[in-house]
Amino acid sequence: MIHKSLFLNLCIVVLLLGSTSCAQEIIEKPKELLLSEGFKNPIGFYNAKPTFSWKLPVSENIKSQSAFQVIVASSRDLLPNTPDLWDSKKQKSTQSTFINYQGKELQSRQKVFWQVRFWNQNGDSSEWSEINSFELGLLNNSDWNAKWTGLDTAKDSIRGVRKFLMHRPQYLRKEFQLSSDIKSARLYITSKGVFDVHLNGENISDDILTPGWTPYNHRIETLTYDVTGMLKAKENVLAVELASGWHSGRISRGKALYENFVSPKILCQLEITLKDGSKQVVLSDETWKGTTNGPIRLAGIYDGETYDANLEMPNWTTTVFDDKNWIPVETTSISTDVKLAPKRHQTVKNKLVLDDIEIVSVKNNAAIFNVKQNMVGVPKIKVPMKKGDTLKIRFSEMLLSDETFYTTNYRSAKSTDYYIAAKNGVIEYTPKFTFHGFQFVELSGYDRNATPDKTWVKGLVQHSNFEENGTFTSSHKKLNQLQSNINWGLRDNLLDVPTDCPQRDERLGWTGDAQVISPTAMFNFKMHSFWTAWLQSMRETQSEHSNGLIPFIIPDVLQRNNASSGWGDAAVIIPWDIYNITGDKTVLEENYEMGKKWIGYYQSKAEEFIPNIHSFADWLQPYPTKTGKIGNRGDTPRLLVNTAYFAHSAHLISKIAGILGKVEEEKRYKDLYKEIALAFENNFFDKNGKFKSKKQTQTSYLLAIHFNLLKPETKIKAQKHLLEEIKKADNHLGTGFLGTPILPKVLDDMGEIDLMYKILFKETYPSWFYSINQGATTMWERWNSFSKEDGFNPQSMNSLNHYAYGAVGQWMYERIAGLSSLEPGYKKIRIAPIPNERLTAASASVKTSFGEASSSWKIENNTFYLEATIPPNTTAEIHIPNASAENVVVNGKFLKDTRTLKILSSGERGTKVLVESGNYNFQNKL
Ligand code: BGC
Repeated sequence: MIHKSLFLNLCIVVLLLGSTSCAQEIIEKPKELLLSEGFKNPIGFYNAKPTFSWKLPVSENIKSQSAFQVIVASSRDLLPNTPDLWDSKKQKSTQSTFINYQGKELQSRQKVFWQVRFWNQNGDSSEWSEINSFELGLLNNSDWNAKWTGLDTAKDSIRGVRKFLMHRPQYLRKEFQLSSDIKSARLYITSKGVFDVHLNGENISDDILTPGWTPYNHRIETLTYDVTGMLKAKENVLAVELASGWHSGRISRGKALYENFVSPKILCQLEITLKDGSKQVVLSDETWKGTTNGPIRLAGIYDGETYDANLEMPNWTTTVFDDKNWIPVETTSISTDVKLAPKRHQTVKNKLVLDDIEIVSVKNNAAIFNVKQNMVGVPKIKVPMKKGDTLKIRFSEMLLSDETFYTTNYRSAKSTDYYIAAKNGVIEYTPKFTFHGFQFVELSGYDRNATPDKTWVKGLVQHSNFEENGTFTSSHKKLNQLQSNINWGLRDNLLDVPTDCPQRDERLGWTGDAQVISPTAMFNFKMHSFWTAWLQSMRETQSEHSNGLIPFIIPDVLQRNNASSGWGDAAVIIPWDIYNITGDKTVLEENYEMGKKWIGYYQSKAEEFIPNIHSFADWLQPYPTKTGKIGNRGDTPRLLVNTAYFAHSAHLISKIAGILGKVEEEKRYKDLYKEIALAFENNFFDKNGKFKSKKQTQTSYLLAIHFNLLKPETKIKAQKHLLEEIKKADNHLGTGFLGTPILPKVLDDMGEIDLMYKILFKETYPSWFYSINQGATTMWERWNSFSKEDGFNPQSMNSLNHYAYGAVGQWMYERIAGLSSLEPGYKKIRIAPIPNERLTAASASVKTSFGEASSSWKIENNTFYLEATIPPNTTAEIHIPNASAENVVVNGKFLKDTRTLKILSSGERGTKVLVESGNYNFQNKL
């Protein structure tokens, strides 16, 4: 039935066209309504000008949208007939995502209801969707009547690591009476520091380390909780635990940055509407009382927590407690220069529990537990103790050869918790105001008579509360381990801000690391709002620098007043990636000016288009010529990297200007890009496309080719030199943080797919599988952070949990499995897998804004099978590798019948396309 393949790469355009029926019918309603960057019925929402998105249901008669109508009202009862806030009216449009609200101005606290309906390809109207809602938080500082409240802990602070002053954690409470039953209540709350809040003995939420980390000198995020069900008529009590966190604790290299070692404080406003119609407000103010004599004695992000159970205060979060020995708090008014704004992305939560534990060793009242995965969060401890004894809890990412802890890579971070027992018996303890990066936990100081048990330790994995978004799997065990390592590298470094590493005395928002990983991160997790929130912090930080500088890290606790190429470009590259992955133009609008200013920074430092700025360059390139710290920057020269990124960012800004309709600027930045590219070629490459330097590097070619900086004829020559470089390295990577993510894309564009597979599947140093062969369960900072032969890399900068090299994950989704977005937000999907003899199957799925898309292939009995899922309201191109029309069967029909398919929506999971391509032969190059 199926004929010989003809070395053809077919492209099928899948158009979701429908049959033309005349009778108007009512079709199923839209589903999964979302607000702005993916919020579902939020309260305390941050944005009074949101966007609306919905999905079309998967159904026989729904292929695409031809029109929509959104209606918005101040009360549920007004829908659908009398929307008083906005009626978009019927809009002819296929757009079902990110529709701008254009109604009446919305106010703080306002609760808003909305509905949507759509018309399908035949003009049939859907039913109205379910009613969704959102409620705004306190949008302006003037909405706050509360005061910053807390004890002055600076005056009796303690000296910690490197003599750094530490505040004692504090306990704050306020009792109040309510005169009638409660109709509704909202708690608006934040802190300078990190807090946990209780109402009448109940913990208000399972949020962790709130309010999270922003540039606190510009903006502090606030949280909103619905506490209606927790209040009582008559006596109530609000109780808050408060520690230094990122605001007042040791962060970065040891300075307290904000407001000169200010004591942590809370700001809270409990607004209650009573059943009798009256309102009552409880504020943080001088009527609160506090103590530092509670059980949490010390807590620091880097150094861990100390808990003394002797100082527990039973019932302190309830009204039966007597706080007569507590002392009055101090207060300060809120200032106008620090913006209080509702949190615009998900809080951190406990996301997973690792409880498959192994005991590694027990020696001298010290037991080592292995949670079998390098993870980030805290341990949950349940262990027998003797009264007065101190349990010491240490952490390590890996063990030394003698099974003791490898902690030199934590550098000055003590990362140790202590628990002091108040009685004999089993204690339970989970640290609250710190987090650790670890796979191994050592407990010492437990009851000597007890035999350590696996149940003593569990690992609570913590990160920002985004959902999983994609899956990738294949027939190859190590490739799957790589996917798992990438995934864990992400989980472990997305704790409120994107961090370089989660364990040593950094854990900072390094922009370069984030820039390279953000597309892969968005394949794996739904993190649209996570990135846009961090970009806001970036804009705020840039505003401190009149010359447009973007610091190395955001929030900028290093304060070096310096910028690096490849790092600061996150300001342009990340918005561009978000737009392409989500289709949300708002992110371009929000960050366009920041991007322009960043280019202005390059311009102000450039002579003849070569910017003379700092660069970390191709960070941690293997086999650098120079050794030691200076070698970290690799061999690709700084000025080349600067010029390449200057050009690339100018090019992207030109494209962004085009999308935003800024015609003049589109041209201006395109011209600039061309001028920079010319200077780049003249300065760094000769006529034979050879990089003009004795020390050739893969990355100098990769940047030149990928950023399109050479004339077409020079580019072809440069490609040959790149291949020579790779050959010289015996098909190993010669790239650092900047070159590695680009390598697969460049080789792919060159048709060098087999070579890319060779590099990816290399087992020896430097390669992705090398670290897997050495036991890695996450991505490592260096290709050789550890080896079985030589042990740990002696450099102190040696994180075993650093996501940058995981950036290859994007290529695994897009090309190994074959699923990518061809038009922003997957409006058009490309299914284009590139099988290789090293694999017999691969598949990926992604939850797009339109529904799930997937690409899954396998080769069995010389036949290539591809199954693709294309959600409604999108189109797709399917490229079938090594195929000819005569031997391809699509959805049961020979392809040669037609190359443009009408695919009917089918089943629960969207439109399915099944491809069968016979006589599959790997020798047929694409
Ligand atoms: C961080 C990196 C970062 C680099 C830049 C390191 O200390 O961990 O990942 O990008 O510094 O120099």
